[in-house]
Parts: sequence; structure tokens; C-alpha cells
Amino acid sequence: MKKIIYYSNTNESYNIAKYISEKTGYELVDIMSLKDYSFEFIFLVIPVHYQNVPKEIKSIIKKIKANRAIVIATYGKMSYGNVLYEIDNKYLRANIVCASYVPVKHAYIKNDKKFSDFNKLDEIINMIDKEDDATITRKNKNIFANFFPIIRHRMGVRIYKTDKCINCGKCNLLCKNIKNGKVNNRCNRCLKCYYNCPNGGLDFKLSFFMQKYLEKKKKDKFIIYK
Ligand SMILES: Cc1cc2nc3c(=O)[nH]c(=O)nc-3n(C[C@H](O)[C@H](O)[C@H](O)COP(=O)(O)O)c2cc1C
Repeated sequence: MKKIIYYSNTNESYNIAKYISEKTGYELVDIMSLKDYSFEFIFLVIPVHYQNVPKEIKSIIKKIKANRAIVIATYGKMSYGNVLYEIDNKYLRANIVCASYVPVKHAYIKNDKKFSDFNKLDEIINMIDKEDDATITRKNKNIFANFFPIIRHRMGVRIYKTDKCINCGKCNLLCKNIKNGKVNNRCNRCLKCYYNCPNGGLDFKLSFFMQKYLEKKKKDKFIIYK
């Protein structure tokens, strides 16, 4: 079984996974709907959250077993921590033959450019038949990466309902941490609700510190480990 498995809240990783699926013909599967966990080959496409593997999917990735895998981590041009090294050594039971960090639109920057260099992914897709493991170098994470990351994001991003909300209930279906446009205190600020609201019924504001952090010079590196 060969699949493209993705996790995506604001559709950047999804669009990359979809491009790969169209090129390869392999089925596209949302990681949240996985039923089987054994594969011959997978493409895994996920975002970087707080310089880490998103908390919601860590335990799911641990269950996956594949003979070979290609892993793509999308990141918002700030910092990707050590995500690919950790997936290789801590989370995914697979021989990773190629891995890549792909810079995409940051969920928290409204006017950031969406990822559009899809042709650049062809070099990664061409690794599909590669047998030997990729050499993924270990990087030093930012010292703040593991310093209460979720609390930092909760304080840094405020999600609120706008007067365009028509109480359609779509956000309630997307996430258990929002009810009719109001988020509870378990919300991780992934902004899936904001990006998928059909009516512009939600908006978000960044704290001063989050704004300053996001104004930092951006990395725009597209990195491929083979
Ligand atoms: C909760 C959260 C944490 C994030 N942390 C980082 C980060 O540490 N470094 C970075 O460069 N981008 C970060 N981003 C930006 C995401 O990596 C970017 O929005 C994501 O790759 C988009 O993927 P998606 O549309 O598939 O969800 C973060 C985004 C969110 C929502």
C-alpha cells in the first residue's frame, strides 16, 4: 500500500500533498482518519508547530509503520527546530529515503504569500524509488522551543467571532475546542477554524510580542535531505 498522508490546518501542507498525489496517483489520506497503520511506502506531509511535530499527531505518527517513507515538514519561515531528525529517530518507524523542509505561508501572518513553487517538489517526488536512507542532520533547537510552547501561543493569539458569523456550526464540526465561534482553554491556536470558516465569521489578533517575533527576518530555505 502506497499513500500520501497529510496533516493540515490552513491547507498549505494539504495543497502540497494534493500536488504529490496528482503526480504519483497515490491516494491522499488525512492522518486523522487513518484506520490502518502499515504501509509499503508513504509520503508524510505535516506542518511544524512550535519548532516541533504538532502535538495532536505525535502518537498517531508513532503507530505508523512503513518500509520506506518520504517526509515533508512545512514551516512558516521562522524556525523548523529539529522536526525531521526527531521524526526519523523518535516517531516514525520507516526508512526515510528523503526528507524536506518546505517554507510556506505562516498561519499567523495574514498577508504572507501562499506556497506556489510546486515544481520544486518534483525533485522530492523523483526519490520515490530510492532505497537507501537519507542523511538527516541534527540541528540545535532554539532554547525557547520547549518552553511552554502551547501556553505561549495561547497568550500570543486571540481568536474571536466577527459580526459575519451566521452560527452555521462548521467550526464546531472542525474542532472540539470551539463552540459557536468561542474557543475553550484547550485551543492550541492552530487556526483551522479561522481558515475554514465559510463566512469570515472568525478573526484573530496577535499580541505585541507575537507580532514582534513574527517580524523577525524570515528564513526561506527549501531543504532536501537525500
Ligand atoms: C500553532 C502553530 C505553531 C507554529 N509554529 C511554527 C514554528 O515554530 N516555526 C515556523 O516556522 N512556523 C510555525 N508555524 C507556521 C506553520 O508551520 C505554518 O503555518 C504551517 O506549516 C502551515 O501548514 P498547514 O497549512 O498545513 O497547517 C506555526 C503555526 C501554528 C498554527
